[in-house]
Amino acid sequence: MKALLLNCSPRKKGNTEILLRRITEGMHEVNISYDLIRICDYDISPCIACGGCDTTGICVLADDMDILYKKIDTADILVIGSPIYFYGITAQGKAVIDRTQAMWSQKYNLGLQQNKKAKAGYFVCIAASHGSKIFDGAILTARYGMDAMGFDYQGELLIRGADKKGSVTSIEGEMERAYQFGISIGSPSSIFL
Ligand SMILES: Cc1cc2nc3c(=O)[nH]c(=O)nc-3n(C[C@H](O)[C@H](O)[C@H](O)COP(=O)(O)O)c2cc1C
Repeated sequence: MKALLLNCSPRKKGNTEILLRRITEGMHEVNISYDLIRICDYDISPCIACGGCDTTGICVLADDMDILYKKIDTADILVIGSPIYFYGITAQGKAVIDRTQAMWSQKYNLGLQQNKKAKAGYFVCIAASHGSKIFDGAILTARYGMDAMGFDYQGELLIRGADKKGSVTSIEGEMERAYQFGISIGSPSSIFL
């Protein structure tokens, strides 16, 4: 099995990257191969709502999203990782999800994914604050984005209280939780609330 991990944070070596790397160590333990990418290394324009994909299932924009469409399509497992920015995922992450409107269109307008088995999708999210609703909007975005991409939302790792770069490593138990999350990926239920 091959996992694709999308790091939606623009901050290099930030908390999302640290967590995703720790998760891959758990995945390695259970023989899941992986491709961890920083989406900010890719040139992805936002959706322009031209309607082009409504009838073709293909996005008219020519940029690095073509690379991501292929990676998403060939992955068995998808992990989206993002920090919270104003109660949502980052703008860069949202741009990728909005561009999967072409995949949504293939599935729901054109019925092209009917014989495809849904794959397993997971969400990793980190916030500075401790608010009870801090992840609600981001979870909905990730869940419905994954549905468009052909992944069933199977679980999440949500971490509160990390703001400074790298500070997640000093929150007791969180790095171990990330490692265990990686090990559990691929099993039916991985809810790490
Ligand atoms: C533009 C911006 C908006 C943010 N909005 C929130 C927010 O609404 N709630 C929150 O708890 N943290 C917020 N944060 C803090 C980040 O979620 C936090 O610093 C996180 O650890 C960053 O992860 P990273 O190191 O992977 O980029 C915001 C940070 C930035 C830069």
